[in-house]
Amino acid sequence: MGGNSVWRMLVAVATWQLTAGQTNLLINPSFEDELSGSWQGNGFTFERVTTDAVDGTYSAKCSGRDRDVEGPLQQDIPFLKGRHYVFEGYAKLLNEKAGTIWQSYKVIVQMDLPDQANKQTYIIAYRAFVTKAQGWIRVNGSIEAPMKDPSNAKLSFRGPDPGVDFLVDDFKFYEVEENPFWRQEADANIENFRKANIALNVAIPSGVPAQDVDVEVSLKKHLFGFGAKIEEFELGLHPKTMYERIYNSWFNWATVQAYKWKFSKGERYDPDFSRATDATEVLLANGKTVRAHSILWDIKKNTPPWVIALRDDEVRPEISKHISYMMNLTKGKVAQWDVQNEHIHGHYYEERLQDPTISKNAYRQAKAEDPNGPVLYLNDFTCVTSGASTEDYYELAMEYLNEGVPVEGLGIQGHTKEFVKPDPTAMWRRLDRLAETGLDLMMTEFDIGWPDIAVRADWLEDSIRAFFGHPGLKGVIMWGFWNGSMRDPDHELVLGPNPNELTILESGERWACLTKKEWTTKETFNMATSPSPLSVRGFKGDYEVIVKVQSVPVQRETFTLGDGEAIVDIAVTDSNIPIELTEEEDFVPECISHREEAVVASATTSSLDEALTCRTVKSAPSGTAEDDAASVTCEADEVMTSCNSYHMLKQSDRKGEEMNLNAGGQMECTAYNGKSSISGSSKGKGKEGNPSENGKKKVPLRTNSRGPPGKDERGRVLKENVNGVRAVARCCKVAGLKCDYKTAGPSLVFKGAMAEARCSSDQFAFGCSAYQPFPDSNGVKPNDNVDGCLAQSGTQASSNSAERSGAYSYAACCSATSTLECMAVASSASKQRSGASAIAVCPDGFTMTGCNVFAADGKPAGAKIDVPRKTQKVTCKAYLGASLPRDAVGVKSYATCCRVAP
Ligand SMILES: *[C@@H]1O[C@H](CO)[C@@H](O)[C@H](O)[C@H]1NC(C)=O
Ligand SMILES: *[C@@H]1O[C@H](CO)[C@@H](O)[C@H](O)[C@H]1NC(C)=O
Ligand SMILES: *[C@@H]1O[C@H](CO)[C@@H](O)[C@H](O)[C@H]1NC(C)=O
Repeated sequence: MGGNSVWRMLVAVATWQLTAGQTNLLINPSFEDELSGSWQGNGFTFERVTTDAVDGTYSAKCSGRDRDVEGPLQQDIPFLKGRHYVFEGYAKLLNEKAGTIWQSYKVIVQMDLPDQANKQTYIIAYRAFVTKAQGWIRVNGSIEAPMKDPSNAKLSFRGPDPGVDFLVDDFKFYEVEENPFWRQEADANIENFRKANIALNVAIPSGVPAQDVDVEVSLKKHLFGFGAKIEEFELGLHPKTMYERIYNSWFNWATVQAYKWKFSKGERYDPDFSRATDATEVLLANGKTVRAHSILWDIKKNTPPWVIALRDDEVRPEISKHISYMMNLTKGKVAQWDVQNEHIHGHYYEERLQDPTISKNAYRQAKAEDPNGPVLYLNDFTCVTSGASTEDYYELAMEYLNEGVPVEGLGIQGHTKEFVKPDPTAMWRRLDRLAETGLDLMMTEFDIGWPDIAVRADWLEDSIRAFFGHPGLKGVIMWGFWNGSMRDPDHELVLGPNPNELTILESGERWACLTKKEWTTKETFNMATSPSPLSVRGFKGDYEVIVKVQSVPVQRETFTLGDGEAIVDIAVTDSNIPIELTEEEDFVPECISHREEAVVASATTSSLDEALTCRTVKSAPSGTAEDDAASVTCEADEVMTSCNSYHMLKQSDRKGEEMNLNAGGQMECTAYNGKSSISGSSKGKGKEGNPSENGKKKVPLRTNSRGPPGKDERGRVLKENVNGVRAVARCCKVAGLKCDYKTAGPSLVFKGAMAEARCSSDQFAFGCSAYQPFPDSNGVKPNDNVDGCLAQSGTQASSNSAERSGAYSYAACCSATSTLECMAVASSASKQRSGASAIAVCPDGFTMTGCNVFAADGKPAGAKIDVPRKTQKVTCKAYLGASLPRDAVGVKSYATCCRVAP
């Protein structure tokens, strides 16, 4: 808490207000003109009145209502696929209904969607707890339109019980923009708020040479909750189910929902929550943090039937007994309790007993039962992944706080509305509003769905990145991860018929790669070459330190990194007895993203040649400045099948290359120079104030400026212009040759993360390209079936989020009139010395259509296609651009070799 005001200033987003430049999308929004032609009021008395208005002369009165859905309605409002909208308006209750405490207002948009038989309803604003005494109140909320084309959209205002009259006025409905820089801001927040500094003082016993001692520091458990609702019955079995093993690997928190009252196996005099408590014991034994869900649930159908059957005067004491029982049952075991669930959307106990204080008193009692115990949460929906109840939740929390009710956290359900792409900007804005309460925030029930699994993975990644990047949140709990235990289809991370037969989907891979690879800390220090104390900036959480002497692990220490710096003293043991290390299961050893996979262009040849022939074209060298580019194209009757590049001085300062259409509509292979490590060359440009937009790559400067002459490592002045990159294309023809140029990316942002551009089933990837704005590219290789290209991200050199990125992959996906056969030939890895090379050639009868360099451990200088005079064979030769440690893997060259099937 407390720190909220500090970070709030960092979140730079425009205000959500109807400003002069924006259009109110409603007609006659303040009811100043005749209602007919703009508003409809079907089945009730709908009229303009002058007695009471928020603005102007008129408001609209709704009376004679006999259904709660009756209220003003406007047809044919603009509501476009994937856009973001805000509603604001005012309403005033004119009478109450006997026997009810509260009324509610609801603003909805209904529409037709392609492939959906029924009209779809999206709630844009909701207010519960409405009373006549409040007079005019503001009703506001926001929404994202679905990623399908809506038609016939209409907006209506409704909600109060039949017989209740109300006035409405001053409606606004307008579009708001996404913040294109959300990703950089999220990454910057992650760097600032999710990490802290570690100083390790390592004392080595006398007689042990420092160079014999290696210290390995690694994060074991994030402080931030990356959790899941678990299937209680699948835990603690022998042997462990695959479900539990994946859970243990991917998640540090769990929600146990079998604490719900209805889940008790007993009734009034014999409660039995053993399903929940047994699962809790297993989770705690595995080092997980548990949140318990939920003591009460303010909705009748979710209340045990025997409670519903009690006499009214028995209900209050029974609630009290239940709260005592549950708080005692979980004492010392759970970190958070949802005391009342979905109170905004249900008031079963309050309305039944006509007592507005029941939920408030539940919090008071729960706190009194265990004052230093779990953090007490409210838990509700449509507050952050959509915005109908954000304002209501804020108001409810403020009312509790003002009355001293001990609510300590706001649980945010986050079941994303169907077909809605997450909008990090809107989610942050809603989180900001809830954070103004000063309460802890927890995304307690997140799930998101889309049938295309690569798109689902991107949506999941964007959401999780936005959540981790919002400093007000304490964690995100997935509402299940296996399709066997999820509410909706197409939301799962793993798929399978039973807990031992599970397939990990790209959405699951993305979760694991993001939370365990992009966002993790693992550093190794040799004590002879490292400064003292050892300094690490790491993710907050629980750490392990392994000390190795002569590569033998002899000591294990642990510490926790919280908000402040952790200063850790380690006295290295003089024992040389090896300790046993526990290997963590890694279910996702390779992280491959297919983000934004798309065809960027296509090309064909008019050639009628029966044989496949190719030639190589090379560009002139690029300039010497960072982002200087060099391009080549093929002849009109040729098709570009590959695009690679190399550095003139065999340096690794390259950003790779791209296959794109140029302004003249021709395919072009463009290579980009990196940030030179050679002194005297001009500095990078176009960086400051030009962060890439929304995770898209920044458009590199396509200048051909020639920098001043550089100097090499030994200080020799280099000839002008030799310090740049050359683009190299293969230009091929054969009858009917057609290539689609596919892209994908960026990959995640860590060394080894990959982006894959995939071909369709009737195509081969004739050649590949890789581009990475920061840091230098690690190159690209064809995948195992030669029907896609894998570009790998390099080690990130900067902690500045505007200078970090993943890799982009390009594939030339080709087919021809005749059946083709293709294979990829990989060289063995080069030596680790700077300038070392690796050569691949095609088998006899095959033509080289592509040549690429791939450097598993980085520093490639590119690949050249040559025809050595001696052999007269086309070779693909890859170079290493800087020396690597002895245990690293050098560069490999990959030749793609195709022929017309004999
Ligand atoms: C509280 O729980 C403990 C252990 O579960 C139990 O022994 C004790 O009887 C409980 N106390 C009350 C008042 O329910
Ligand atoms: C509702 O409107 C008020 C006043 O303009 C604003 O402070 C608040 O942030 C809005 N709430 C939401 C959820 O947009
Ligand atoms: C989960 O997916 C598997 C594999 O497609 C299927 O066999 C199973 O029936 C699904 N489970 C549920 C509950 O839908």
